[in-house]
Amino acid sequence: MGRRWGLLVGVLGAVWLLGSGQGGRQPAETAAQRCFCQVSGYLDDCTCDVETVDRFNNYRLFPRLQNLLESDYFRYYKVNLKRPCPFWNDISQCGRRDCAVKPCQSDEVPDGIKSVSYKYSEEANSLIEECEQAERLGAVDESLSEETQKAVLQWTKHDDSSDNFCEADDIQSPDAEYVDLLLNPERYTGYKGPDAWKIWNVIYEENCFKPQTIKRPLNPLASGQGKSEGLCVEKRAFYRLISGLHASINVHLSARYLLQDTWLEKKWGHNVTEFQQRFDGILTKGEGPRRLKNLYFLYLIELRALSKVVPFFERPDFQLFTGNKIQDAENKMLLLEILHEIKSFPLHFDENSFFAGDKKEANKLKEDFRLHFRNISRIMDCVGCLKCRLWGKLQTQGLGTALKILFSEKLIANMPESGPSYEFHLTRQEIVSLFNAFGRISTSVKELENFRKLLQNIH
Ligand SMILES: *[C@@H]1O[C@H](CO)[C@@H](O)[C@H](O)[C@H]1NC(C)=O
Ligand SMILES: *[C@@H]1O[C@H](CO)[C@@H](O)[C@H](O)[C@H]1NC(C)=O
Repeated sequence: MGRRWGLLVGVLGAVWLLGSGQGGRQPAETAAQRCFCQVSGYLDDCTCDVETVDRFNNYRLFPRLQNLLESDYFRYYKVNLKRPCPFWNDISQCGRRDCAVKPCQSDEVPDGIKSVSYKYSEEANSLIEECEQAERLGAVDESLSEETQKAVLQWTKHDDSSDNFCEADDIQSPDAEYVDLLLNPERYTGYKGPDAWKIWNVIYEENCFKPQTIKRPLNPLASGQGKSEGLCVEKRAFYRLISGLHASINVHLSARYLLQDTWLEKKWGHNVTEFQQRFDGILTKGEGPRRLKNLYFLYLIELRALSKVVPFFERPDFQLFTGNKIQDAENKMLLLEILHEIKSFPLHFDENSFFAGDKKEANKLKEDFRLHFRNISRIMDCVGCLKCRLWGKLQTQGLGTALKILFSEKLIANMPESGPSYEFHLTRQEIVSLFNAFGRISTSVKELENFRKLLQNIH
């Protein structure tokens, strides 16, 4: 890790110094500065600066990504919201209407998406159909071509692979339903207070790597110093990813706050006070700006994963299959355009600095990382508010998919930068969650610009 991190620590030090220097000259900080004081200039653990990320995201990526996510392929997400919480059983269900999730009627979802068998390509699809037909006819495996058997075996292997960071959600369960994400937007639901804190407390307290010496309750509005100091790079990164996810969710809730709730009309919009309570440097005793920084860290990690997985999507036989040929082809073009844009971003995070050191130790650490992460995806089944559970599950699965990509050796082994990758696979669920999760963080970064403007009018 040595030199690179030394350098980064140096840069970070310089940023801190700069920060305090400015503070000295401007004793009366504006409200905007108090939230964003640390969120400018260089980001630690990455050789890029916030302004570059903002410009890139807000003007080049965000609009196109929104477009893509409105397509049928990406708007329907299959999810089981009825899985019991594996850790405790006193979940108080949020009864508010805003917490409810409206699943799709079965005729709303395009058949191409619903067909369970659809995997990665038309070719694979027809192979599986062959399989299913054989099953229906009561045939046993021997009737399948050798090629089919091999393919099926391989998919099963891929799907169960230990590459996975998330507990594979049981989407074959009768309880799993398609949800139209556009009709169930992530926004303020009124789900907060002790129940919401409990979830995040458990996530941080029991499932994040922590420095042994610090042990204290942590709720989203609490504050404190240097939670992740004294940890190795990987463990600190884990903590920062979770914190970034948490920050991102809170940015959304502040940006889609229920401002007016009368029988005539419901109005959602920016609540600057709510935003400040979560991110203002003084009100959160320094935690807020750090949380926002972690949001950028999460953004860069997912951005890097997307740029790494480009060869998988470039495969000629890869389709965003919904059954509508023209639409599917257009969507794939848009997807590739977005991915090439992402690849052109000059300052990618270097994941090779993770799990570098001693091989045995690195593997152990990676396994720890994976187990912790799986646990967090299971905790999402304990969220009382169904809409929050939906978006929580989707975003953890998306992040899990990003980690799977980043740490997959199959993709590394297969990475002469050009040329498609045939070793590595993603399921539709993983693809949908990966892009929607990234879409959420991209939206957060965009919303920060809006809050910055709103805060500039307050002193
Ligand atoms: C998983 O989460 C549960 C509930 O918080 C906790 O008791 C357990 O120690 C966690 N396991 C890991 C590997 O983090
Ligand atoms: C904005 O959020 C604050 C703090 O959470 C709350 O007290 C206030 O009522 C909200 N404002 C509106 C207009 O809903």
